[in-house]
Amino acid sequence: MRGDTLPTVSVIGLGYIGLPTAAIIARSGMRVHGVDVTQSVVDTINRGEIHIEEVDLDGLVQGVVQRGLLTASTEVTAADVFVIAVPTPFAKDGKHTPDISYVLEAARNVAKVLKAGDVIILESTSPVGTTAQMRDMIAAERPDLAMPGLTDGTPDVSIAYCPERVLPGRILEELTNNDRSIGGITPRCARKALAFYKRFVRGTCVTTDAASAEMTKLVENAYRDVNIAFANELSMVADSMGLDVWEVIRLANRHPRVNILTPGPGVGGHCIAVDPWFIVSASPEHTPLIRTARGVNDGKIHHVIAQASALVEANPNAKVACLGLAFKANIDDFRESPARLVAATLARRYGTRIHVVEPYAAELPREFEGTGAVRTDIDTALEECEVMIVLVDHDIFKSVPLAERADKQVYDTRGIWPDQPRAVVEPALEDQRKAG
Ligand SMILES: NC(=O)c1ccc[n+]([C@@H]2O[C@H](COP(=O)([O-])OP(=O)(O)OC[C@H]3O[C@@H](n4cnc5c(N)ncnc54)[C@H](O)[C@@H]3O)[C@@H](O)[C@H]2O)c1
Repeated sequence: MRGDTLPTVSVIGLGYIGLPTAAIIARSGMRVHGVDVTQSVVDTINRGEIHIEEVDLDGLVQGVVQRGLLTASTEVTAADVFVIAVPTPFAKDGKHTPDISYVLEAARNVAKVLKAGDVIILESTSPVGTTAQMRDMIAAERPDLAMPGLTDGTPDVSIAYCPERVLPGRILEELTNNDRSIGGITPRCARKALAFYKRFVRGTCVTTDAASAEMTKLVENAYRDVNIAFANELSMVADSMGLDVWEVIRLANRHPRVNILTPGPGVGGHCIAVDPWFIVSASPEHTPLIRTARGVNDGKIHHVIAQASALVEANPNAKVACLGLAFKANIDDFRESPARLVAATLARRYGTRIHVVEPYAAELPREFEGTGAVRTDIDTALEECEVMIVLVDHDIFKSVPLAERADKQVYDTRGIWPDQPRAVVEPALEDQRKAG
């Protein structure tokens, strides 16, 4: 990649991060080839359509595909810059160990087509040391190329880590405007990656080393998790005292140096609920706070199940609406979602009484099969259900006026209806034990 000629770009992994990133880069005029292992994803994008829900993404992808700036296939082909945005889940060992096999597989495919002058950037959230591991793997595959940090001379390629910190629902705006940390294997690698991001990012790009950038991303999400855990713990204490946690937090936040976050039914998604474990797993003896926060947030899910079950059992003839399955408001992402776990547990316990409202789902997830629970819309739920469990703060739920729900028995885990009279019931002992 030299001078001012526009580089060609390959984005590997076309999911919630990779596809918007590919489209934004293409919009800036660079030719982008997207790669995904899933054929249906590739076919959808090549038709100018999208397979995920994200504000304004459909029009953007349609436009760049029509202009020939974005193409997709299942094979990695030659490019000047490679951006890797594949999943980094837990290993299936039950110990929350990070699984970087998708990253290494993507890097192995990049190595096959790599040439001198290329830049490789890892964007997947990764445990500290992953970028260096990726470099070592590429070095083993391509001994003909001098690798950064492994040669005394000028390396043939540049390798950097640049994490994403976008908020689903605002991804296009945040991809362009958020500040970024760009960590190079060497300072030269960081400068090469910086030159690439400057072509389409308006936020400030700060360069550092790869390991610091990897750790920064994990720290950001662990910080959020710990602070949400404080709010969730308060909500459980408030329930045990018969207090309204929303009122207590509202009042406490009037202190000029207090800013307590919002409680919820637990913490979900594939970032905040996952990434703190990457720190714990690397340094178990130094992370009691981060580990405890994870436990508190997971425990909140059982607390919600207990409270909701008590309300359902206190109204034995009532139909029950579970409002929302997504892990946060106004998105179609149900991964690691506490709302989904709560609703599915209630569906298994109470079967046909459970009516699930999720405007962002075309159908109920697999675990609802055979439970008897049904999918419905908000208007039908308001007509037919006497008990309402609010699990997600989708705008469509927030907009329901008090007049349409004043006679309902409501358990609102998100605090979206502050004017709703509170339903107070005692959970069963077994449920209280699990929550505790
Ligand atoms: N979604 C978010 O809000 C968010 C925010 C910040 C960081 N991240 C991180 O970004 C990374 C990607 O997350 P996502 O939400 O986009 O995941 P995703 O599951 O939506 O998308 C990943 C895509 O990669 C594809 N893939 C897997 N292995 C591949 C390979 N070897 N070659 C090509 N394609 C491959 C999958 O088919 C999938 O389409 C993760 O590390 C995640 O933690 C996500």
